[in-house]
Amino acid sequence: MADLRTRYLGLELQSPLVASASPLTGSLDGLRKLEVAGAGAVVLPSLFEEELATGQDQVGGDPDVGRADQAGYGAGPAAYLSLLEQAKASLSIPVIASLNGTSRGGWVRHATRLEQAGADALELNIYYVSSRPGLSGGEVEENYLDVVRAVRRAIGIPLAVKLSPYFSSLANLAGQLVEAGANGLVLFNRFYQPDLDIEAMEVLAALELSSSVELRLPLRWIAILHRRWGISLAASTGVHTAEDVVKVLLAGADVAMMTSALLHNGPDHLRPVELRLRDWMDRHRYETIDQLRGQLSQRSVPDPAAFERANYIKTLASHAVSG
Ligand SMILES: Cc1cc2nc3c(=O)[nH]c(=O)nc-3n(C[C@H](O)[C@H](O)[C@H](O)COP(=O)(O)O)c2cc1C
Repeated sequence: MADLRTRYLGLELQSPLVASASPLTGSLDGLRKLEVAGAGAVVLPSLFEEELATGQDQVGGDPDVGRADQAGYGAGPAAYLSLLEQAKASLSIPVIASLNGTSRGGWVRHATRLEQAGADALELNIYYVSSRPGLSGGEVEENYLDVVRAVRRAIGIPLAVKLSPYFSSLANLAGQLVEAGANGLVLFNRFYQPDLDIEAMEVLAALELSSSVELRLPLRWIAILHRRWGISLAASTGVHTAEDVVKVLLAGADVAMMTSALLHNGPDHLRPVELRLRDWMDRHRYETIDQLRGQLSQRSVPDPAAFERANYIKTLASHAVSG
């Protein structure tokens, strides 16, 4: 039977299927279900910079923010630390904590508390929509690097940075993030685009789950960044099926993260995905994840330009015109 073990951020995982940050990973019950269904690791929902500036950070202070099963969004750091500690006590898979912020500040010190509470690694999600014309791309990136350096200084555990795809030179930024102390990259976070309600004349906060079509973006960048700097790569956005998992592993990912698929189908969705992954590996005579990882990365394929612009015209021209 195929061996699904993989390494991510220096951690040994029994499976490359990882549950990324979502409400499902925000309760002990959800985390247990994910472990039982076969998750190789779990990423807790983010603790947000905004929550860390509100004075809610007295551990054990407010009785309403200490219950582990209610560490949902905005519940504050005490509930978060409690969930993390309980997850560490009751799960045997790695538990990755997540911090979300936009700028360097006092909140970064909370990374230390997450490490002390037992997090196996930290995922830093820098979510920033730059809308000021006066702010250059270089300044935005410097801000990211500042945050990463500050968090790196605060902790000794492995650090992954979860990025958006919206950078003009992602490979360059990735290299700088590694220099700043990132041990891995999560490609990508998915920004929720506001919609407009044209009857109520309002802006709507619209959250729609992803589909497999969106896999293409992380697939390309995982393939391009595979085996540069020796860092870990996690694919996030659009991983729904075993076929999606095979694709990101072939591109060079160490783990395939899922949120939308698990929210839509429940934690047990991991079981058929694992079965079909094993089946694919058996049919293609791969015994380990190591053997197949990166087999179709940019460095491995005969036409590396396929991941860049070269096939642009051919691809457009190949589109059949109907009607
Ligand atoms: C309801 C919901 C909550 C999420 N919460 C977080 C979060 O707290 N921190 C984070 O880094 N990403 C969060 N994400 C993003 C997911 O972890 C994931 O990166 C994104 O949904 C793309 O993956 P998918 O295509 O598998 O859904 C959330 C996504 C959803 C749908």
